[in-house]
Amino acid sequence: MKAIVYTRYGPPEVLQLKEIAKPTPKDDEVLIKVQAVSVNRSDWEGLRGKPLYARIGGLLRPRHQILGSDIAGRVEMAGRNISRYQPGDEVFGDILPRLGGFAEYVCAPENRLALKPARMTFEEAAAIPQSAVIALQGIRDKGQIQPGQKVLINGAGGGAGAVAVQLAKLYGAEVTGVDNTGKLDFMRSLGADHVIDYTQEDFTKNGKQYDLILDIVAHRSVFAYKRALRSDGRYYLAGGSVATMLQILLLGPWISMIANKRIRILAVQPSLEDMVYVTELYEAGKVTSVIDKTYALSEVPEAIGYVGDGHAQGKVVITV
Ligand SMILES: NC(=O)c1ccc[n+]([C@@H]2O[C@H](COP(=O)([O-])OP(=O)(O)OC[C@H]3O[C@@H](n4cnc5c(N)ncnc54)[C@H](OP(=O)(O)O)[C@@H]3O)[C@@H](O)[C@H]2O)c1
Repeated sequence: MKAIVYTRYGPPEVLQLKEIAKPTPKDDEVLIKVQAVSVNRSDWEGLRGKPLYARIGGLLRPRHQILGSDIAGRVEMAGRNISRYQPGDEVFGDILPRLGGFAEYVCAPENRLALKPARMTFEEAAAIPQSAVIALQGIRDKGQIQPGQKVLINGAGGGAGAVAVQLAKLYGAEVTGVDNTGKLDFMRSLGADHVIDYTQEDFTKNGKQYDLILDIVAHRSVFAYKRALRSDGRYYLAGGSVATMLQILLLGPWISMIANKRIRILAVQPSLEDMVYVTELYEAGKVTSVIDKTYALSEVPEAIGYVGDGHAQGKVVITV
């Protein structure tokens, strides 16, 4: 089969289109013929080996030689212990821990997969899993959002951010989206009430405060976030620099004690239930799938570069 392979961390140029052996499913896995796979910032981080958490399990060389986690495709073969799926079923899901989606075939355990709704294209389905679950757990579960609350989403014009803005609006919040100059109109089109261009304004220094901050690209000090939170407010880091994560781990609990503000890391739990819930919102027209561009499998290096360089408005999807 064809796959996009890399053996060392680096720029998109280290990715190569190669002919490799088709994988064989274990007893508790299905073999999927990949139809579409979306690009996440986690692919960019895994490619570069930055931030440092992207090297977990592979300090010097990538642990997995094929990236790609949000897949949609057809079951080609089911392992002996598979009960839920059979050949021909159309499935989708996030296979983040094992990866391998930038390929014509991939193996996945059934507990990572859901049936793709018939009316949804493979591209639409592949655009959902990781971003939807980050957004839902950040906004609804950890954020415990209430109608009328002020919510800020940092990185609101990307994959997870675009879903988070729409969910926050759905739950009745007043939403501020922060991203670069080119994404201001895009964030408004998702429903953001206010937008901030991070190249012009630092949301932690403008005197405004929020009940909830969901940060997709955190790189500030924990004290800057404390300043931007109302009393009783919550801040959750979904992605960002290791320095900021360490600060939050060390100082977050202390800030909760002295200031009645919660500053924590969002440790996203894989959840089929959450993925299916957001998919139902898409089907009901309550959340819109935002696919900026699609690419062919051979164009994965360009596609990952496009996301990594911050051009993507919403999601980028590979049609395999
Ligand atoms: N916590 C967990 O358990 C968990 C699980 C899975 C994934 N993740 C992480 O969650 C993150 C998800 O990212 P994604 O796929 O949504 O990324 P994405 O699509 O690249 O979106 C990130 C957005 O942030 C913007 N941005 C960059 N720097 C910014 C800044 N200083 N201020 C405001 N906006 C900024 C980017 O645009 P520009 O670059 O042009 O500015 C882009 O629009 C990844 O870091 C991933 O590793 C976390």
